[in-house]
Amino acid sequence: MALAIAILAAGKGTRMKSDLPKVLHTLGSKTLVERVLESLAGIPVDRCFVIVGHRAELVRDRLAGATVGSTPVEFVDQLEQLGTGHAVQQLLPHLVGFEGDLLVLNGDVPLLRPMTLQAMLDLHRAGDQGATILTACLADPTGYGRVFCNERISGDRLMVQEIIEHRDCSDAQRQQKRINAGIYCFRWGALATMLPNLRADNDQQEYYLTDAIKALAPAAAIDVADVSEIWGINDRAQLAAAYGVLQERSKRRWMQAGVTIIDPHSVTIDDTVELAPDAIIEPQTHLRGKTKVAAGARIGPGTLLENAQIGEGATVIYSVVADSAVGAGGRVGPYAHLRGGTALGDRCRIGNFVELKNAQLGEATNAAHLTYLGDATVGDRCNFGAGTITANYDGYQKHRTTVGDRVKTGSNSVLVAPIAIGDDVTIGAGSVVTKDVAGDALVVARSKQVVYPGWRPKYLRDAASS
Ligand code: UD1
Ligand code: CA
Repeated sequence: MALAIAILAAGKGTRMKSDLPKVLHTLGSKTLVERVLESLAGIPVDRCFVIVGHRAELVRDRLAGATVGSTPVEFVDQLEQLGTGHAVQQLLPHLVGFEGDLLVLNGDVPLLRPMTLQAMLDLHRAGDQGATILTACLADPTGYGRVFCNERISGDRLMVQEIIEHRDCSDAQRQQKRINAGIYCFRWGALATMLPNLRADNDQQEYYLTDAIKALAPAAAIDVADVSEIWGINDRAQLAAAYGVLQERSKRRWMQAGVTIIDPHSVTIDDTVELAPDAIIEPQTHLRGKTKVAAGARIGPGTLLENAQIGEGATVIYSVVADSAVGAGGRVGPYAHLRGGTALGDRCRIGNFVELKNAQLGEATNAAHLTYLGDATVGDRCNFGAGTITANYDGYQKHRTTVGDRVKTGSNSVLVAPIAIGDDVTIGAGSVVTKDVAGDALVVARSKQVVYPGWRPKYLRDAASS
């Protein structure tokens, strides 16, 4: 049976009080609408439509090239937002003659799991009802459409007669705890026939998709076990609560996979991150983007990793590592900053107030204090004394510094790029090195110490000795 998807994403999301369309607000590393696409993972889909309206160009840009499996996302305009039923009406010209099911998802329901949608599809396809919907029983159903059933077929199978929006309910009807999740599976032929007949005779004077359920009744329904899955995000507080749910899911998954998270409440882990068993995540640590942490590495406390690769057994304490790699057994921090394109060989030590940018270091090289290495290629077993700086920027362009193996720089050395330092070079403290240095040399590039004996006035010396 063919399956088409409609994701309703044309609304403004007034209660977000935002310039951005609601579905482009982010939950961790992805927008709400991308999360909705993710909930289709593993479900074979023939067509996937995203219905766009408010600031449609932003939604199109964000989803350009997006697919569900190998099916490309197509966009359908809803120029005026006259309700969820009106949104689905826009599909009529796109699905002429389509024989299959239409799965409708709300663009603001980001926590659905694929297995829940699969269970709903299975229920739909097991019967011949015109529609199947996802429902939940909520302690506080305020705001949601209420679901009314007058038959119950064995066990958890409900047959739904109608859905009434919160604002259209009588006080008695509002007592109903079972709500409409806004997720529907329709037989397209049956829906397409009745869609043109929707009427906007309700409190909001909108065309409600929920009225299609009454027209096609009885519809099948399935209650979700975990109600957070069907949360609709309408304001920033709900957005934050949904983020909390995603975080809990991800941290639970990693702990089950053998990662120690000492204080989960103070840690956030994007779902794009990969952690090996026996990694240890200390408090106040945030792992984002395509970060990978190898076995036995210890991250934190107080660390931000973004697109970082951390090798086996490495430690990173109170530091920021972005778009960079730390080799096995490395020690980073406290208070180090590794920026774009930095790669440390194994067993490097990067200490207090050290900044590395686009710097590739060999094995066992150390920069333990107060150093900046930018646009540099460095060999193995070098030691940068405190305050060593690569002067990589002449005010117009960036230049590279190349350093061989086993080089030692004295404190407060400045390497003025472009410059190449050979193997086994030693640089005297306080040197400003402007020319290339061949291997095995000692270079001292600072003004000579001049001593003027007896410089203190005689009367002061006399006063001190009397
Ligand atoms: C809807 C359901 C309600 C259900 C709730 C679940 C209707 C009439 N009501 O209410 O029964 O309990 O979802 O979260 O469907 N949209 C469009 N075009 C429009 C209007 C809305 O694309 O003209 C999109 C919105 O961008 C949003 C989704 O449809 O992604 C739902 O719209 P929203 O206004 O949030 O519906 P609710 O009032 O929450
Ligand atoms: Ca909503």
